[in-house]
Amino acid sequence: MKTARLTLDPAFRIGAIDRRLFGSFVEHMGRCVYTGIYEPGHPEADDLGLRQDVAQLTRELGVSVVRYPGGNFVSNHRWEDGVGPRETRPTRLDLAWRSIETNQFGLGEYMAWIRQVGAEPMLAVNLGTRGLAEAIELLEYCNYPGGTQLSDLRVKHGDADPYGVKLWCLGNEMDGPWQIGHLTAYEYGRRAAETANAMRRLDPTIELVACGSSNRQMSTFGAWEATVLEQCYDLVDYVSMHAYYEEHDGDLDSFLASAVDMDAFIDEVIATADHVKAKLRSKKRLRISFDEWNVWYQKRFPGEAVLEWQHAPRLIEDEFSVADAVVVGSYLISLLSHADRVAVGCQAQLANTIAPIRTEPGGPAWRQTTFYPFAQAARFARGDALRVEAVSPQMDTAAYGPVPVVHAAASYDAENGRIALFVVNRDRTGPVELSVDVRSFGPLRIDSHLVLADSDVRATNNQAEPRRVVPRDGSGSGLDSGKLTVTLPPTSWNVIELATAPAV
Ligand code: AHR
Repeated sequence: MKTARLTLDPAFRIGAIDRRLFGSFVEHMGRCVYTGIYEPGHPEADDLGLRQDVAQLTRELGVSVVRYPGGNFVSNHRWEDGVGPRETRPTRLDLAWRSIETNQFGLGEYMAWIRQVGAEPMLAVNLGTRGLAEAIELLEYCNYPGGTQLSDLRVKHGDADPYGVKLWCLGNEMDGPWQIGHLTAYEYGRRAAETANAMRRLDPTIELVACGSSNRQMSTFGAWEATVLEQCYDLVDYVSMHAYYEEHDGDLDSFLASAVDMDAFIDEVIATADHVKAKLRSKKRLRISFDEWNVWYQKRFPGEAVLEWQHAPRLIEDEFSVADAVVVGSYLISLLSHADRVAVGCQAQLANTIAPIRTEPGGPAWRQTTFYPFAQAARFARGDALRVEAVSPQMDTAAYGPVPVVHAAASYDAENGRIALFVVNRDRTGPVELSVDVRSFGPLRIDSHLVLADSDVRATNNQAEPRRVVPRDGSGSGLDSGKLTVTLPPTSWNVIELATAPAV
């Protein structure tokens, strides 16, 4: 059997894990909102039309923050259309996804749903077809207590208390030619700076995200971040990152290793932000909002230009396999390994649209394979992220060259004496015996070893078989004289939970 080793030590601290690393994303795209989280008339829907089966799964997933309402959708969206009496809300054309938008779900419904699922709101403003004026109007409607036209309108609409939305995205993917109102880096940097300045004047407690590149393959990547941040560095708190990955031409090994690309992408954005910091002599250390990431089989999507105008069409409802779930686990490991600089992470999206939760109109909701690594990381990664420095056998990949077979991250919650180790075995050919030096922690006990793996890495969950793939208890783990030994099945996601307190 192949072997690997790593050391866990509380002194190897990367940084505190921000709870907002385990965020999600609800966009008015496909069926994420309509027949996803919201479906009036569904047997599980409450008075507002919010599906309680989906709300329950969202709580189980453990999402901390949910970005809304887009995505590309936001760049031609009028927030006023989605507030007030539903019977007077206009039906409009959403140019981003060539969809019919009824506006029956809007800001008030989102805030009600956010409260139900116990998450923090994160709103994006439209800097495509709109700009500064509408951004501050939206902020006034949301966060100003009352006594002005727009704050009183919110009160009139039933929400006496201000929403207190702290996290705001200054537009979405403004570097992308597909974006409605796409801008050059300089144009966007200026617009972001002026919008940020005005929004901060209205509410100095907010935190702002400037758009980074839409992906690492953009020809403008790097230059975009540098130019944008030179305009708005001291006025924003985060720069965004977006990344989607898929398996190309049956090359599963490269896909299983794709977190290598995510790591490099994060490092490059950090380097660019730090370069601007030096150039501007700024004291601020910018952090990252990785507010769209996931597996997405983009080659199966014909592109928005050819879509028929429809309300809530079935768009990019990818059915995720065991291999996809292992890769999602690897992305979570990448995020945890950058906990000192990545503050916010949003898996895109929450329901139906490349999502961990799937639903049928009038029918059930179920967990995709990718639900499990996310839910477990959100539950067990507490306290500080620890550097693990795994010494691992390598595997050759066409896309990334030699890559370590074992990919790992760890967290240590000193207050509660809990350690969690997250490990992916990328090797499809066999198990790996991992030995972990845990002597620095003193006496420990193993509380659990959870595994997501299957003899069929293409196995999925679906309506007919919603529990075909579920996590199970691992076998072959042991702890002796400060050495933890774990057997990692081939192509697997593993969570090992340890406790410093003796068992009672
Ligand atoms: O999540 C789907 C889409 O991907 C989002 O609308 C956009 O921001 C990104 O390109």
